Amino acid sequence: MDKISSQIPSIIAIDGPAASGKSTIGLRLANRLGYLFFDTGLMYRAITWLALARGIDIHDEAALSKLAEETQIDVAPASQSDGRVCDVLVDGQDITWETRTRRVDENVSLVAAYAGVRRALSQQQQRIGRRGNIVMVGRDIGTVVLPEADLKIYLDATAEERARRRHDEIIARGGRPDYAEILQRVIERDRIDSTRDVAPLKAAEDAVVLDSDQLSEDQVFERVLALIK
Ligand code: CDP
Repeated sequence: MDKISSQIPSIIAIDGPAASGKSTIGLRLANRLGYLFFDTGLMYRAITWLALARGIDIHDEAALSKLAEETQIDVAPASQSDGRVCDVLVDGQDITWETRTRRVDENVSLVAAYAGVRRALSQQQQRIGRRGNIVMVGRDIGTVVLPEADLKIYLDATAEERARRRHDEIIARGGRPDYAEILQRVIERDRIDSTRDVAPLKAAEDAVVLDSDQLSEDQVFERVLALIK
């Protein structure tokens, strides 16, 4: 492991659109620094999964907000080596892979647009994030959740490149994805995420924007490390 000088940022926010590589880079960075890695998208996915599992109408904003307020979501270090980055627990139940299903993918941006859902989840994220020594990834970390972050990165890439990455990820997990369908979902999720009224997806004014289209994962990681050093 490289030695990194003492003046390293304590709160690091990484935002960006769907499948832009935030989680991969964020996790590598957190491991390198010995920081906590927190993927906030998992919380929105967990609430979406729970609503679908309980048969709650996904269009019922009040019911979804209540669910987000009442549900205990835990994101813990991976307990199994089955390709997971961390465990996602809802009221104690392991739903790590359920958060990645197509139904969750199709509905999560709708749920994440509800003000009450965002309020409940952002509060939990702030409580954890403000302790520092953390790499937190999402859509609104640098703009709303932790505007005081010491370093803000906005990771971007074209929708086609991001869909290709998500496609390859699913193949690596043994799935048989359809590229055109993934691309369509990525574009639709971006549209909802960036046009919603509350905490829309956008780069914070003081964020460093990294376009990863022409870069390998290692190259992106090197650039992020350079920002920290
Ligand atoms: O991993 P991927 O980029 O596909 O998405 P994610 O980070 O798991 O987030 C799933 C969805 O949750 C996003 O499309 C957003 O609608 C929502 N989200 C959000 O609104 N705010 C965040 N801080 C994180 C995720």
